[in-house]
Amino acid sequence: MISKISPVFEGALEAFLPDPDLTVSQWADEHRILPKKSSAEAGRWRTSRTPYLREIMDSLSPQSRVERVVFMKGAQIGGTECGLNWLGYIIHLCPGPVLMVQPTDKVSERVSKQKLGPTIDETPVLRERIARARSRDSGNTIDIKEFPGGLLALTGANSAVGLRALYIRYLFLDEVDAYPGDTDGEGDPVSLAEKRTATQPRRKIFMVSTPKIKGTSRIERAFLASDQRRYFVPCPHCGNFDWMRWPNRWSGWAYISHKAPYLKKPKWRIYHEDDLHNRRSKLSSE
Ligand SMILES: Nc1ncnc2c1ncn2[C@@H]1O[C@H](COP(=O)(O)OP(=O)(O)OP(=O)(O)O)[C@@H](O)[C@H]1O
Ligand SMILES: [Mg+2]
Repeated sequence: MISKISPVFEGALEAFLPDPDLTVSQWADEHRILPKKSSAEAGRWRTSRTPYLREIMDSLSPQSRVERVVFMKGAQIGGTECGLNWLGYIIHLCPGPVLMVQPTDKVSERVSKQKLGPTIDETPVLRERIARARSRDSGNTIDIKEFPGGLLALTGANSAVGLRALYIRYLFLDEVDAYPGDTDGEGDPVSLAEKRTATQPRRKIFMVSTPKIKGTSRIERAFLASDQRRYFVPCPHCGNFDWMRWPNRWSGWAYISHKAPYLKKPKWRIYHEDDLHNRRSKLSSE
């Protein structure tokens, strides 16, 4: 009897397992707990509070053929939480090697301590899969979280060592416009990280950021090279759809939440139908 499956065989086996039924947004509604330590509204996650995140999260689900999701966004609208929901889903339902990159090692440590660690501790299906961080060899440290069938590594984009340490299947690049242009003389941190996914047939990459400077922004460049979805909301007066931006922010959003059953639903609309595998979304506060 084979008592232990070799890592290579296990990886091959996993590639043939059926996709889980739940999408990432459904998983979040069912399982994700927002920790007291870092959330304005602690407790159960509800996608209905931020409905624009649904399609983005579901493009990250294994059922979706989309390989690369780019989210160019305004500040504080749930970009990092969206990524954490995806990480939770991976740990629970489709394990594999994952890398989360933050702008620097310091930011990475803060996200690990304030958001990821408490999310794992307070979300039962994650707590069951990741050992408590009691000892150094528990497989649960600030920059590594081991779980059955996979491993989540956390690093800063300023660390070339962190970016080339692993082969990964899932890559979460958070706040890319704050990354350095060059990491330790080894080149662009996004390219360095993406190289780690090159041998993975079913890889997924999630790139998130608030854009910094027009023309030199990394997230803007990625967005422009995409099908360029924007989140359209209906005008409360005439029902015409327009995409969310500064002048119609108030007239659109507050009213729609209130009268939702009577109005057409907001939705993402594509600008360019060129590439099914590269889905990119923009929701800005401009
Ligand atoms: N669906 C939701 N339900 C409840 N709270 C939410 C939801 N989505 C986001 N939040 C809360 O909104 C706040 C901002 O979320 P998050 O940090 O993910 O945004 P962000 O876009 O990454 O922000 P930043 O621009 O600072 O990086 C957090 O307190 C988060 O818990
Ligand atoms: Mg964030």
